[in-house]
Amino acid sequence: MEDIRGRLTKDGIRIYEDADFAGMREAGRIAAEILDMAIDYVKVGVSTATIDDFIREEIVRRGVTSATIGYKGYQHASCISVNHVVCHGIPGAKILADGDILNIDVTVIVDGWFGDTSRMYVAGNAPRKAERLIEVTHEALMRGIAAVKPGNTFGDIGFAIQSYVEANRMSVVRDFCGHGLGRVFHAPPNVLHYGRANAREVLEEGMFFTIEPMVNLGRPETKVLADDWTAVTRDKSLSAQFEHSVGVTATGCEIFTLSPAGKFHPTYG
Ligand code: MF3
Ligand code: CO
Ligand code: CO
Repeated sequence: MEDIRGRLTKDGIRIYEDADFAGMREAGRIAAEILDMAIDYVKVGVSTATIDDFIREEIVRRGVTSATIGYKGYQHASCISVNHVVCHGIPGAKILADGDILNIDVTVIVDGWFGDTSRMYVAGNAPRKAERLIEVTHEALMRGIAAVKPGNTFGDIGFAIQSYVEANRMSVVRDFCGHGLGRVFHAPPNVLHYGRANAREVLEEGMFFTIEPMVNLGRPETKVLADDWTAVTRDKSLSAQFEHSVGVTATGCEIFTLSPAGKFHPTYG
């Protein structure tokens, strides 16, 4: 048996100890650094397999482990979700074209701790509406994170995200959610990106989880393609996602997956 310290709440959510933050900080930093380095590979004419090859090699070079290779049969070091792909896009022969927007999602295991993060990239120049989608999705994540503190609820996080997204006349995907993590990849609770204030489980210091809203320009419905992984918008509208791994502190939260270079959010010149 793996030795996992800490206790579980009545909802089965693990409460980690102060010392455990250091492990998550290291795993999160490495995942974020790899996403920083991936920026150079996102170019018109490059295949998504080429980007994934870089990510796999960088994970090996650093002597850490990919959490996705071998996970439920998945065979890649990243998910790369282009345009109307909502999440779990499989890297492959697809060549990036001018104006494509893409999410790259990487999860690494470092000394047993899971660092899970994703962000948006642009190949060439994106149309204004795609830039707006990316801006709103990033701001939605940060508003969700701003709701993280002991005594608030997971409903408060979902409400902060959903109300902001819908005020911008975009939609929040319901079919996928964030998740507890730590010494495991996916654990309770389900972190919904929609909801009502004061609803659901109460946040406590020592909880570790992801927030990873997926936002669509059109309707929220998704479907999974025949490969059993790729999730797309049913109406083929553009979709964006950002993901951070966070830990609840006494006064708020620590974001484990911030970009050391400050490149989490793509900037538009
Ligand atoms: N990293 C994804 C998440 O945010 C999970 C990817 S699982 C995979 O939870 F198998 F598709 F890679
Ligand atoms: Co995740
Ligand atoms: Co992820």
